[in-house]
Amino acid sequence: MNPSRARRERFLDAIGPRTAAVFVATANAIRNNDVEHDFRQDSDVFYLTGFDEPDTVVVLTPHASLKVDDATLAPKLTMFVRPRDPEREVWDGYRAGVEGAREQLGADAAFPIDDLAKRLPELLLGHDAVVYRWGNKAFDERLFAAIQTARRTAGRQGGYAPTRLIDPIEVLYEQRLRKSEDELAQMRTACAITAEAHAKAMAIAAPGRYEYELEAVLLETFRRRGSERPAYGSIVGSGPNGTILHYRKNDRRLEDGDLVLIDAGCEYGYYASDVTRTFPANGTFSDAQRAAYEVVLDAQLAAIEMVKPGVTQGALHDRAVEVLTAGLVKLGVLEGDVAQLVKDEAYKPFYMHKTGHWLGMDVHDVGAYFAPKRGAGDDAEVKMLQRPLEPGMVITIEPGLYFGIGADKAKVGEKGLKDWSHVRGIGIRIEDDILVTEGGHENLTRAIPKTVAEVEAACRG
Ligand code: GLY
Ligand code: MN
Ligand code: MN
Repeated sequence: MNPSRARRERFLDAIGPRTAAVFVATANAIRNNDVEHDFRQDSDVFYLTGFDEPDTVVVLTPHASLKVDDATLAPKLTMFVRPRDPEREVWDGYRAGVEGAREQLGADAAFPIDDLAKRLPELLLGHDAVVYRWGNKAFDERLFAAIQTARRTAGRQGGYAPTRLIDPIEVLYEQRLRKSEDELAQMRTACAITAEAHAKAMAIAAPGRYEYELEAVLLETFRRRGSERPAYGSIVGSGPNGTILHYRKNDRRLEDGDLVLIDAGCEYGYYASDVTRTFPANGTFSDAQRAAYEVVLDAQLAAIEMVKPGVTQGALHDRAVEVLTAGLVKLGVLEGDVAQLVKDEAYKPFYMHKTGHWLGMDVHDVGAYFAPKRGAGDDAEVKMLQRPLEPGMVITIEPGLYFGIGADKAKVGEKGLKDWSHVRGIGIRIEDDILVTEGGHENLTRAIPKTVAEVEAACRG
């Protein structure tokens, strides 16, 4: 069976017989003048339909009754799509159209997108809630208008119309958090392509090369192996640029003695990989670089080691922070009792982000980080307990140390800060993609060189 159909059925089962759901395609966005940004379908729309055209609205209705011509339909999946248009298709390419939505995608009903305002109220009628990710300004008003129209009709006919909106985080994102075998197959392919790309970038790096040459190798590898696009803008930061968390210019010349930080991963079949490696431009870590690198590596390995069902991401972060802080003491950057330094957040000038995030169709994937539902009755407080990991979830683990301008405001002598002049300019992050399994975990990006010896060997090509 088409995986999207199985996903829809699971989702419909979970929301129950009186809840509708509406998902909206990503809007085409102008890049400049009459040029558009490359289109990438909204992850929810793709997850539920496998459809990659813009101007699409997906409506799931377990309880709809829709009059079309002389027939009355009870569509569970209705799609509003761009109609066929031979003239436009000459310019922009094939469209599935209304017929394709029914025949190829298995929609029970399909209409041109321009019919949405007319049809949506009727589809929503008889449901008491709508799953919808509000905050899409262009669409919020259209949905609210449809609910209002449904409400008026319900008033006249004695039926009922939705009175509640439900964020998809409650059901759909719980489903998206736990990856099925077919999703994991896509993620494994994304990770394998990304592994080749990182190894190639290490092999061609050398003083005198430019960051964009390394980026070109990454992109060439992604596309050559069938990845549609990078999962996010590739970061290739050499020397001090490695300390800039979201560095994107990628235009500096690599110098002898630089470290190079590459944070890049491809998307494959709409699934992301997200990997960071840091390596010496000339192929050999200096003593200071190696010492700092090994601190980050130890922190990353210690956190990965802990991953198994039941553990929280908060616990992984705490463990990474503990190892990084102990390492900062070993490096002579901090001084004092490690537990106290952790408590004082003395590491923060050098480690200011979290240790990981959900990974899936979106690089920072959807899904609640805390228990997704409120308790009931006496237990009505939101439980701010970090949720335990479960098999099928995929996370990144990505500790780092950044001795850059972010630390300039920290005062030597305060909060255990001793001296960081000997590591200034060094930026290191190490990031892998970790699948939680019944027995513990599987590192999906373990093939990418990571120990000092492996990285130096990869740099030699
Ligand atoms: N590449 C984005 C991140 O590491 O979170
Ligand atoms: Mn990441
Ligand atoms: Mn990353």
